[in-house]
Amino acid sequence: MDKTDRLNNAFNFSSLLADAEILRPGLCEWRRHIHAFPELSGEEVETGKYVAQVLAKIGLTEIVSEYAQTAAVIATIQGDLPGPVVALRADLDALPILEGNDVPYVSQHPGVMHACGHDVHTSVLLGAAQLLWLRRSQIKGQVRLIFQPAEERSDCLGASHLIQAGVLANPPVEAIFGLHVYPDLPIGTMATRPGPMMASADVFQITLKGKGSHAARPHHSIDPILMAAQAVNALHQLVSRRVDPFQPAVLTIGFIQGGAAENVIPEAVTLGGTVRTLCPQLREQFPRWIEDLLQGVVGSHGGSFELNYQYGTAPVVNHPDTTAFAFQTLRQLLGFDQVRLLPEPSMGGEDFGAYLQAIPGTFLRLGVRSPEKAKIPGLHNPHFDIDEAALPVGAAALAALALAWPEN
Ligand code: NI
Repeated sequence: MDKTDRLNNAFNFSSLLADAEILRPGLCEWRRHIHAFPELSGEEVETGKYVAQVLAKIGLTEIVSEYAQTAAVIATIQGDLPGPVVALRADLDALPILEGNDVPYVSQHPGVMHACGHDVHTSVLLGAAQLLWLRRSQIKGQVRLIFQPAEERSDCLGASHLIQAGVLANPPVEAIFGLHVYPDLPIGTMATRPGPMMASADVFQITLKGKGSHAARPHHSIDPILMAAQAVNALHQLVSRRVDPFQPAVLTIGFIQGGAAENVIPEAVTLGGTVRTLCPQLREQFPRWIEDLLQGVVGSHGGSFELNYQYGTAPVVNHPDTTAFAFQTLRQLLGFDQVRLLPEPSMGGEDFGAYLQAIPGTFLRLGVRSPEKAKIPGLHNPHFDIDEAALPVGAAALAALALAWPEN
């Protein structure tokens, strides 16, 4: 094959899918290994080492392990043609869940499980690496492969940490793509949407401080239990009365702790919750709204409070241009009807949003449900598992995006 033929072949999507299908045994082997040895956020040392080993075995020569003092692995595939840098991202971490599946590749680490499909994302990106490595004569510019730790926990060193360390720089990345398994979609299909796709996910803790006393002498107390009851009620009214009804937002109180005996008014009560929005500006308002509200509630009792508000992941907002490109490319690869427009965003969070605050890009959903099954257990469920026929589809999809970028 001479160079012109190779160029003409660059967008031969059917060969890409067929090649990915040939790689299926390897994809399954990687996925099963990663699934069997899951590691929690911030502890993905062995998973990172395994990824680097597989990349080296495929033939890649530019591999950086333990990037930015984390388990991250960053690899580069330099194409033969001039062009920009495009990035593909996968996440490495598992969840603190005891696996309930009876499969040969069941988790060997009790209480830790790849219940969010990050084993799939990692093996799919390894598959894309292999497909791209074999086609490096057709790559315009270079492809940066980002295997990122700690997606599940915003207090660990995930996307934001890698971005601060320069993962999107030197030379700068022009566009980024990533995917997530999706149990509602059948194998062979993918889905995304332009604009907001997933929510920001912030968390907060509130300590309401009163004055303890005998339960029979409430007038000697400043009752933090009562303050908490009023605070919970009032906090839920922020979304219904402060937020524009056309802007999705969620405020959930997830825990409340205080008191130890029926006949004692305690000194303090703590509560914690999460705030989800699709709009960065709306997101910024919540800490002040919560603060103002607590001033009122606590002030009326003569108590005090401490608010600890932590910004977590940013909303996932897909760029219109990269999303139009992804629809066009993936529809050529998989068929027009196989690439669906998500009718609405989700209020779930995903730290891919941090990359999309920095550069254009698109996050996609990958169908992992067997067509024979009407429904499979959802993400974060101890019985979550995928049909491995999804692996070649995901690998080919990521490779196609990198090969086709930039459009002209
Ligand atoms: Ni996930």
